[in-house]
Amino acid sequence: MPVDTVLRNARVVVRGRIVEAGLAIDEGRVFRIAKKTNLPQASKKIDLKGNVILPGLIDSHVHLRNKRLAYKEDFYSGTAAAAAGGVTLVIDMPNNKPVTMDSISLRERMKLAEKRAVVNVAFYSAFPQNLKEISSIVKEGAVAFKLYMSKQIGGLDISDYGLLLRAFNTVAEKEVPVAVHAEDRRILESERRKMEKTGHKDVETYAKARPPEAEAQSIRQIAQLAKKSRVAIHFCHVSSKIGLNAFLAAKKDGLNVTCEVTPHHLLLHLKHLKTHKTLAITNPPLRKNKDVVSLWSALNQGFIDTIASDHAPHTIEEKEVESIWEVKPGIPGLETTLPLLLNEVSKGRLPIADLIKLTSEKPASIFNLKNRGSLVEGNWADIAVVDLKRKYKINSSNFHSKAKYSPFDRWIVKGKVTKTFVEGRIVMDDDEIVAKPGTSQTIRRMRMNHQ
Ligand code: DOR
Ligand code: ZN
Ligand code: ZN
Repeated sequence: MPVDTVLRNARVVVRGRIVEAGLAIDEGRVFRIAKKTNLPQASKKIDLKGNVILPGLIDSHVHLRNKRLAYKEDFYSGTAAAAAGGVTLVIDMPNNKPVTMDSISLRERMKLAEKRAVVNVAFYSAFPQNLKEISSIVKEGAVAFKLYMSKQIGGLDISDYGLLLRAFNTVAEKEVPVAVHAEDRRILESERRKMEKTGHKDVETYAKARPPEAEAQSIRQIAQLAKKSRVAIHFCHVSSKIGLNAFLAAKKDGLNVTCEVTPHHLLLHLKHLKTHKTLAITNPPLRKNKDVVSLWSALNQGFIDTIASDHAPHTIEEKEVESIWEVKPGIPGLETTLPLLLNEVSKGRLPIADLIKLTSEKPASIFNLKNRGSLVEGNWADIAVVDLKRKYKINSSNFHSKAKYSPFDRWIVKGKVTKTFVEGRIVMDDDEIVAKPGTSQTIRRMRMNHQ
C-alpha cells in the first residue's frame, strides 16, 4: 500500500545539520524521514525543490480575538496569518469580549474556531472568580491559564496574593501551567500618573510609564508565590535585562519556571519606537538596546525557553489615535516571526536547531501538546517548508491578518515560508491559503492518567 504523500527533493534538520532527505506522510502523521531511495511509494508526490522541512511553529502567544472583537481579527483571518507564517498550532489568549474564563465561554470559542480555523488552535483560560470552576475549565480542554498582573482580566483579584496562591495550588494539582504577563500594576499606575502630569505626548513617555522595574518586580512576586506551590509558571514576553535577571534568579532557585521572548523585543528598541511611533506601542514596551543585547545573550546561552509572536492585532485607526494613552497596544506578528528568525539564522546569530527548539519543541513540551513539535515518526505531520536562500521585502499590506501594518514593514529578510502543512494537509502554498475554513481542529489538553 502506498502512503498518502511524499515530500521529495527536500532537506531536513538532523542534529543541527541540514541534510538531504524526503518525508513520507501517512494518515496525517510522519511515516518516515529518509534518503530518496528509502522513501516508500506514495499516492501523491510533492517536489520541494531543495527547500528545508521544519516542524511547524507552535505559537503559544496569540490573540485571535473573534466575537465582539472580530473587527480586529477572527478565527479565519488569524489562522490564515498563522498558516502564511509557517505556524501550525496557535494557543489563543483569553482577553476577549467576552473573556474566556469558564467552561461555557471556552466551549463556545472552541466551536467557533472549529468552523473557521485553517491551522490547529488550543486555548488559554483566564482564572474564574470561583476557583471551583477551574476543574471544569480543565476538563473542557484549556491547555493553560493566563494571568495578567498589569490589570485584572478574568475573575481573580490580582492584588490578593492569598487567593493567587490558592489558584496556583489548584492548577498545580491538575498539572496545568500558568502563563503570566508580568508587569506590576501598582508601579504601572503610579508611573503613569507621573508621566501624565509631565504633559509629554511622545511615544517614549509611554515606554517610560511602563519601566523595566515593573516587569522585574512582578516576576519576583510571582516567583515567591510559585515557590509556595508546585505550579509551572511560564513568563510571557520577558523584555528587559532586570526582568530577565529576576527570571534567572527564580530558575536558579529551582522553581518550575520557563520564559518566552518575542521577535519584536529581540529585534527592535527605543529607536524603532521613535520611528514607528504609536504603531510600535506594545506591552511590555520596546526597551533600550542594552536590554535587547541581554535578551540575545540569554537566548544564546540557552536560558530562554520559547519565542512566541504575541500576535496582538488592532485596527490601524486604533493604533493611530492622537493620545498615547488611548493607543491600543500590540503588534501583529504571526506572519513575520519565522521569516525574521530565519533571517537571524542566515546571519549566523541563531543556530537553526535552536530556532526549532524555541518555536516548536519547547512550546510542545511546556504546554503538553502530545505528538507535536518535532518531526519524528508517529508525530503529527505539522510542517513549515522554507526557502533559506530567498530574500524578500516584508509587505504588511499583503498580510492575511486584518492588522495590515508592522514595524517590520519593508525589512528585507533572507528566508521565506513557502508551504505549510497541518496534519499532512497542505494549508498554505506560495502565500495562498489553500485550506477551507474549518478544516483544522481544537487541540484540547490531554487528560493525565491519574485524573
Ligand atoms: O501589547 C499587548 N497587547 N499586550 C497585552 O498584554 C495585551 C495585548 C492585546 O491583547 O492587544
Ligand atoms: Zn502580555
Ligand atoms: Zn499578549
